[in-house]
Amino acid sequence: MTLTPAAYTLLGLTALVAVLVAVLTFAALRFAAAARESRNGRGPGEDKLSAALQEAVTRLQAQERATAARADASERLSGEIISGLSAGLLVVGLKGEIRILNPAGRRMLNLAEAAPPDVCRRALDELSLSAVIDECLSTQAPVVRRSVTLPEAKHGVSHVGITVSPLFDDAQLHGAICLFTDLTAVKDLEEQLRLKDSLATVGELTAGIAHEFRNGLATIHGYGKLIDLSALPEVYRPYVEGIRAETESLGQVVTNFLNFARPAQLTLTDVDLRAICERAAEEVRADARALGGDVEVEGEFDVIEGDEVLLRQAFSNLLRNAIEACAAVPVAPRIVVQSEIDRAQRVSRVCVNDNGPGIPPALRERVFRPFYTSKRNGTGLGLALVQKIVVFHNGRVAVAASPLGGAAVQVTLPTAG
Ligand SMILES: Nc1ncnc2c1ncn2[C@@H]1O[C@H](COP(=O)(O)OP(=O)(O)OP(=O)(O)O)[C@@H](O)[C@H]1O
Ligand SMILES: [Mg+2]
Repeated sequence: MTLTPAAYTLLGLTALVAVLVAVLTFAALRFAAAARESRNGRGPGEDKLSAALQEAVTRLQAQERATAARADASERLSGEIISGLSAGLLVVGLKGEIRILNPAGRRMLNLAEAAPPDVCRRALDELSLSAVIDECLSTQAPVVRRSVTLPEAKHGVSHVGITVSPLFDDAQLHGAICLFTDLTAVKDLEEQLRLKDSLATVGELTAGIAHEFRNGLATIHGYGKLIDLSALPEVYRPYVEGIRAETESLGQVVTNFLNFARPAQLTLTDVDLRAICERAAEEVRADARALGGDVEVEGEFDVIEGDEVLLRQAFSNLLRNAIEACAAVPVAPRIVVQSEIDRAQRVSRVCVNDNGPGIPPALRERVFRPFYTSKRNGTGLGLALVQKIVVFHNGRVAVAASPLGGAAVQVTLPTAG
């Protein structure tokens, strides 16, 4: 039997429809089975999916933990860096509120660990550091290595160098970061050099003239001595006595001045500071006791490399001044020579304290100038010589108020080695 082309087409179409129906039925059956599986609980597909999901979540959690640990470690590290810095670090907000002040900064500014922010802020104002920070905040430009003198030396810090940089967040200013370093040692060194220089100049300029003076005075004094008072009419005797007394005291001034102006040449040996102070104290003890007081030597003393004769002269001058100050009031002298060794700064501090009238702050630098004296018979060279001796030992000397009520003259000398 032969089929017509139309019959072939019909047959083809029927077969195609049959295949489509079969495919759709298979799909519907699979879908129904899947739906059943899903209604009855998890099927193997979902197990895989949830396992994958679980794994992804675990990985994410591990990543989060690692990120948190990294953040913790970096925070710890920056904390350690900030607190380990030997320079002071300060971060302030726009209104100058303190956000960070590291331990070195607190030490330099003499602020306790627990000092509240308003106390810290006041301290910054008093120490003129706020002015530098405000300048940076208002100009929005860094202030580089500005040297600031602290009004009162805190913990021995009298000068700090400060660098302030503005802090921006997306070009928006939100505060400033300041680094400050202790410049006291550098300033002391500069001051020592300046003093040594000016002492050398004074010495060169004046020693020659002073020498001539002394020769002239010695001649006048000699002739004055040759005059036989008994051969003079009574009326002239006081004049000759006056000439002798005046030339003698002028001779003393010139000798002291030459002593002071002479170029310092140190004969260095190991010097026991306790022995030196005990000896200087011994020299004035009788005078102190005669005035109803005493002299004490206490604390920890160092052995330093220095010129024994000059150092003894320096401490004798200081003790003599203390006795004279007490005698002038008058008050029974209580004089205490107190020493300590600062191993961190590698210096010895020997302080001569008295209970005299003290030295007002306005005069505390002036008293070291040659010829400054408040005494009728003083030459005003005692402290100038002390300063010269100490400076030539690479130390420094300063006057403060003593806990005993009078003056405290503090000599700082570098330790040996
Ligand atoms: N311990 C002290 N207490 C109070 N004032 C002091 C003390 N030491 C020094 N001075 C003041 O400093 C001034 C200068 O002291 P300095 O030793 O240089 O000279 P002087 O004692 O007056 O004279 P010189 O020492 O030459 O005899 C003194 O005149 C005094 O006014
Ligand atoms: Mg004196």
